Amino acid sequence: MTYAIRPVESELELVEAFDVMGAQFPKPLTHEDRHFTDLARRFPQDRSMMLVVEDEGRLVGGALAFRGGEADPGCDVTLRIIALVPEHRRRGLGRRLVERIEQEATRLGVRGIGLGADEAVGFYRRLGYRGKGGMYKALPLSSHDDPGSRRRALEELRERRRARLQGH
Ligand SMILES: CC(C)(COP(=O)(O)OP(=O)(O)OC[C@H]1O[C@@H](n2cnc3c(N)ncnc32)[C@H](O)[C@@H]1OP(=O)(O)O)[C@@H](O)C(=O)NCCC(=O)NCCS
Repeated sequence: MTYAIRPVESELELVEAFDVMGAQFPKPLTHEDRHFTDLARRFPQDRSMMLVVEDEGRLVGGALAFRGGEADPGCDVTLRIIALVPEHRRRGLGRRLVERIEQEATRLGVRGIGLGADEAVGFYRRLGYRGKGGMYKALPLSSHDDPGSRRRALEELRERRRARLQGH
């Protein structure tokens, strides 16, 4: 199997990716679910953290994250959903997806990654996430000291406020 991990290409593909991932849970989720709303709002700005896995052109899973956290919207990334269809699990793809989101979040100067974990707590623990229910991992500090990344984070925050005020 030749896997390709790449960012979601379009809003339409974001919907498809969420539905494929959502179908992997005991209580399936679809993009009609409120959990999809934040992702759609952050597309395409945070597209680099919205990833799909393809196996010979077929979408077999992915991980979708965006900037914005419950506690501190300017500083955190939320990993909203990660899932692979069963026959592609336990091959290291979940780890690759999370690590790629972490790299991208670090590049963007984000402080840490939070997620709500009802399932697969053991998986997240292996990747360094801590907590119960709400899990969190702090990212390396180096990029936070980069004034460029602080400026970008601030601009980002302003842009979000502007969008909110304009009712988007
Ligand atoms: C959770 C999920 C994304 C993990 O992806 P994966 O590709 O199977 O995981 P990986 O092969 O990259 O595993 C990474 C590490 O976590 C461990 N691991 C994987 N799934 C685990 C689980 N359910 N419990 C405990 N450890 C787990 C692996 O053994 C591996 O450890 P190692 O690298 O030290 O050997 C996948 O099992 C899945 O799609 N599950 C259904 C949907 C789901 O529950 N999503 C998470 C909640 S949003």
